[in-house]
Amino acid sequence: MAIREIALIGEPVLREQTREISSEEIASSEIQETITDMIETMHHANGAGIAANQIFSPLRICVIEVSDNPRYPYKPNIPLTILINPQITPVGTEMFENYEGCLSVPNLRGKVERYCQIEIKALDRNGQPIEETICGITAGTFQHEIDHLDGKLFVDRVKNTASLCTWDAFKKYHEKQVEKEVKTIVEKWGA
Ligand code: NI
Repeated sequence: MAIREIALIGEPVLREQTREISSEEIASSEIQETITDMIETMHHANGAGIAANQIFSPLRICVIEVSDNPRYPYKPNIPLTILINPQITPVGTEMFENYEGCLSVPNLRGKVERYCQIEIKALDRNGQPIEETICGITAGTFQHEIDHLDGKLFVDRVKNTASLCTWDAFKKYHEKQVEKEVKTIVEKWGA
């Protein structure tokens, strides 16, 4: 187990399509250790999720967990979820604005549009299939992590670049309003 270095914006590994894992590979110590390191690195950095390429392993794996997260105090909790080879399908066309940040993009946040509802298909770390419908703010977190696996960063999706800000400026100018908006979304979508 180890806390791994996080790749920062500008590292080519963040811009590459990640490689799918074969079902035989999932049980290998290499993959299992990578997953354990991802969880540990995410916890250490207080991330809501991390993708394998963010720790320089260009594999199609991401982990997500929100447990009273100090970086995102308004985010609903999400139990620890490990997604191998995730595929995402939007349900409907409704979208919401999500003020995102990223461990690979230090001290920057920006407003991104995300689908309110998605269907996700993946394998867990035991190779068992996961098929779930994910809604609301939590759906935004899943879309952010799966974007990483396709070489995309949240900054690519920021339409209004005037929304870009530091974490201090977010706290000063946006946090109160965002908390209200998040509450409305959580009430509507239950997550
Ligand atoms: Ni990120």
